[in-house]
Amino acid sequence: MRQQNGQVAEITLRIPTHIAIIMDGNGRWAKARGLPRLAGHRAGTENLRRVIEACADLGVRILTIYAFSTENWRRPPEEVYGLFGLLEQMIDRELDNLDRNGVQIRHLGSLEGVPERLQRKIRMAIERTKGNSRLILCVAFNYGGRQEIVEAVRRIIADGVPPEAVNEELISRYLYTAGLPDPDLIIRTSGEMRLSNFLLWQAAYAEFYVTPVYWPDFDREELLKAIEAYSRRERRFGQISEQLAPPG
Ligand code: IPE
Ligand code: IPE
Ligand code: MG
Repeated sequence: MRQQNGQVAEITLRIPTHIAIIMDGNGRWAKARGLPRLAGHRAGTENLRRVIEACADLGVRILTIYAFSTENWRRPPEEVYGLFGLLEQMIDRELDNLDRNGVQIRHLGSLEGVPERLQRKIRMAIERTKGNSRLILCVAFNYGGRQEIVEAVRRIIADGVPPEAVNEELISRYLYTAGLPDPDLIIRTSGEMRLSNFLLWQAAYAEFYVTPVYWPDFDREELLKAIEAYSRRERRFGQISEQLAPPG
């Protein structure tokens, strides 16, 4: 229940099956505190643990997080390698806990150019958690939506797929997200209203939610606000309201 214009509105939360988050604003969070950018990324990583737990508690089945884009290589090398270091630390510190809590880790993106040691840790984390099913955590790391499509087209051609066999379902099977449903809700923190090359194909019918809150401050309460906004949306998929089954 929430207070709205002096009235109390009841809202039944609809928990999205698949939430995808563009975790943005770490740099500005740090700057606002007179801290180096990496301190913002560290705080962002801390926050990630809380959001993963909240999603698992709420019954979200798939959580996709944008951790590093193919464009983020353009940042100063100390920031790029600082981010890689934080991901390594996150795997070292959190893997036991994630595994114990039934989280299955997947990677969306390419491992090309990524330091060997980090590559090994990522592969190990995926291998170790592949039997878990409470929450699927897809880490979009060294991920680009266009690169994903280029890579899919290359493999479709290399597999000798005849043109008449190419359809939406086939393309989906060649993406990093093969076998997973599209995101229902895409959240972007820090107020930017763009996709920044995230899940271009999969976002076709996702609901968007943008909040000015910086990622390190995006807590359970903020997540609930996003889910509440999502719960109020009418997803028409091209139809008109009258055609939709009554909610319930
Ligand atoms: C998001 O925070 C984290 C990554 C892109 C890795 P930013 O680092 O983009 O933070 P801002 O946008 O500069 O505030
Ligand atoms: C998008 O954030 C990438 C991640 C959150 C990992 P950016 O901060 O890199 O996006 P732009 O450059 O502002 O579009
Ligand atoms: Mg940013």
